[in-house]
Amino acid sequence: MKETELKKLLSEMTLEEKIGQLLQVAGTLYGENGLVTGDLDYFKITGEELDRAGSVLSISGAAKLKKIQDYCMGKQPHRIPQIFMLDIINGYETIYPVPLGQGATFEPEMAEKLAEMAAKEGSAAGVHVTFSPMVDLVRDARWGRVMESTGEDPYLNGEMGAAMVRGYQGQSVLDKGRMAACVKHFAGYGGAEAGRDYDTVELSERTLRDDYLPAYKRAIDEGVKLVMTSFNTLNRVPSTANSWLMKDVLREEMGFEGVLISDYGAVKELVNHGIAKDEAQAGELAIKAGVDIEMMSLSYIRHMEEQLKQGVITMEMIDASVWNVLCLKNDLGLFENPYKDASEEDEKELLLCPEHRALAREAAVKSFCLLKNEENILPFEGQEGEKIAFIGPFATSHEVFGSWSFPSDPAKMVSIKEGMEGSNKNASMTFAKGCQMFGHDFKLKDGRWFRYDASLKEPLLEEALRAAKDADKVVLCIGEHQQMTGEAASRTRLQIPEEQMELLRKVWEVNQNIVTIVFAGRPLELMEVSGWSKAVMMAWFPGCETGNAIADVLFGAKEPGGRLPMSFPYVVAQEPCYYNRFRSGRPNNGTLEQGFVMGYIDQIDKMLYPFGFGLGYTTFAYSPVSLSAQELTGEQPIIAKVTVTNTGHREGTETVQMYICDLFGSVVRPNRQLKGFTKVTLQPGESKEVSFTVTEEMFRFLNIRMDYVSEPGDCKVFIGPDSTTGNGADFVLK
Ligand code: BGC
Repeated sequence: MKETELKKLLSEMTLEEKIGQLLQVAGTLYGENGLVTGDLDYFKITGEELDRAGSVLSISGAAKLKKIQDYCMGKQPHRIPQIFMLDIINGYETIYPVPLGQGATFEPEMAEKLAEMAAKEGSAAGVHVTFSPMVDLVRDARWGRVMESTGEDPYLNGEMGAAMVRGYQGQSVLDKGRMAACVKHFAGYGGAEAGRDYDTVELSERTLRDDYLPAYKRAIDEGVKLVMTSFNTLNRVPSTANSWLMKDVLREEMGFEGVLISDYGAVKELVNHGIAKDEAQAGELAIKAGVDIEMMSLSYIRHMEEQLKQGVITMEMIDASVWNVLCLKNDLGLFENPYKDASEEDEKELLLCPEHRALAREAAVKSFCLLKNEENILPFEGQEGEKIAFIGPFATSHEVFGSWSFPSDPAKMVSIKEGMEGSNKNASMTFAKGCQMFGHDFKLKDGRWFRYDASLKEPLLEEALRAAKDADKVVLCIGEHQQMTGEAASRTRLQIPEEQMELLRKVWEVNQNIVTIVFAGRPLELMEVSGWSKAVMMAWFPGCETGNAIADVLFGAKEPGGRLPMSFPYVVAQEPCYYNRFRSGRPNNGTLEQGFVMGYIDQIDKMLYPFGFGLGYTTFAYSPVSLSAQELTGEQPIIAKVTVTNTGHREGTETVQMYICDLFGSVVRPNRQLKGFTKVTLQPGESKEVSFTVTEEMFRFLNIRMDYVSEPGDCKVFIGPDSTTGNGADFVLK
């Protein structure tokens, strides 16, 4: 539709119709036949209100959505089509690694390809908008949603978030197979106190702007169509009612022009926060903050008309929001083709097709982080005569896809057992569960109960020990259940469930050649695990190709390619634990006997495995860093170079990381900040020069006067394999 026609449409709409466009309802309220057969008591919506809603969430499937579209358009006086939105977080049906695993790839090009694939599948299933990417900066592994982010680094998050937006939206969301992206959760949701989901966030304006906002900004600059508000309060104002944040920062400063949508029920939650006295006032605060769509609460549809009459809100406010919604519908081409790409044939052809599975497999391999490989126990030979026992609840589990993949079918995931059996290796392989996932009854987030059966403990253990005794090597497949991660899954402990740890200890008594593969959506305490294991590999939740990807790396067809997107603490009490911290007046040298220094008396204050760390199957040496100049100016960047050499015996890929440090500033500056990374593949003995451009812009921050500038002075650049090692070179910023 042309803009003039769209404006005409807006001018012809009744107030009732307009307000309806600002309501989003769950698809469960519509029946298969496009009739209202859902439970209308659910958040107490009436049939009449439901018919006025302008968008729908959490439902998919071409046939189903076409019917709902027909039904809804029939109820709309101007036949305005619905937008269908869904959380496509790590794939639609072809499930690939959870976002934290994607962060570990350090490969934005991969994240882009994966998002493109998800958009193709999702749009064939009739979905127009995905609630992704989540670029919330995460520094506390207790928070369940760290799994949905790409980690603790603002730069990596920004690169990955922007890549995902490109992947979903392409050149134009109108194109076939593309959908609109929604960056979330604006802002600072990852800063929840003590990692408690939905809890208070207090961030100084400097921290907010220097560390938390840049990744959202990257997504906005990439043209993201929607932004979602966060559930949390930010410096005592809930985001959904925060005019400063939404208008001054998001719209004015960041230049966002798309649709601002609340999170699920977040408008009404303003009452719980104690900032609105009732539902009506909650809606008033949200619309005044510029929230266009109210997701799953009824403050707008119930109270706006009256508020307008009383002059509490204005017609301009309503019109501005409705306009944003209409523009999105128009950008998606829904006025011309309300089904967009929904097609049963395309669903059949695309969902879980071999090409998509192959990409998911490649991504999984690149997300695995090998943290230890004593005696080069990995890779295995896979030859006849080699006996390998796969033990642990994850050896046969299909629940390896994260907590957000509801359209996909667990039965279609390749378990480790299935992957090994299909690997055509001559090694003899046995599989034993060893123990139950938990040592007690456990209610999963999705409402299912895991019931502990004490009578299974001994037989499972005996079977596993028999297998371990008889094997040369044991692959222990353990970790946290996927439902222990994601939304509403914060933890006060970062251990693997005790039942599984007991299994590890018992297996070690009969066989010390243990390779432990850890499944998790967050950093865990791995000190003990590492003590019992010759090799440790973080698998995160790899998705539908889990077993095949693990076979690829265990037998050496590929090397594990990931680098940690979050630092791993020794113990949970060190959280928040992240690399880019400030220097203390009393620095800690990493030992316990130091007296009056920053840290603890009962735990060395280092990371067990730092951000950026990960091993492959070969080794690399770095030359000293050479600089093109000793002075950096706004006009003249410095080129920093190293030569990286493969010093091992097989081809390998190194993730070369570039960090900067501003040695003195008017406010304290982080130890290090990641500002570049690249991958280099080398044959044994081969060397390559790797160079990074260091610019003045990289050194900008909010200084003592709150000006966003760089300050002249001594600086350093480091190039190396992780956030704590590598070679450095000094220069002066003019
Ligand atoms: C989550 C969002 C999600 C939304 C819609 C909320 O509970 O916080 O991340 O996009 O639900 O499913």
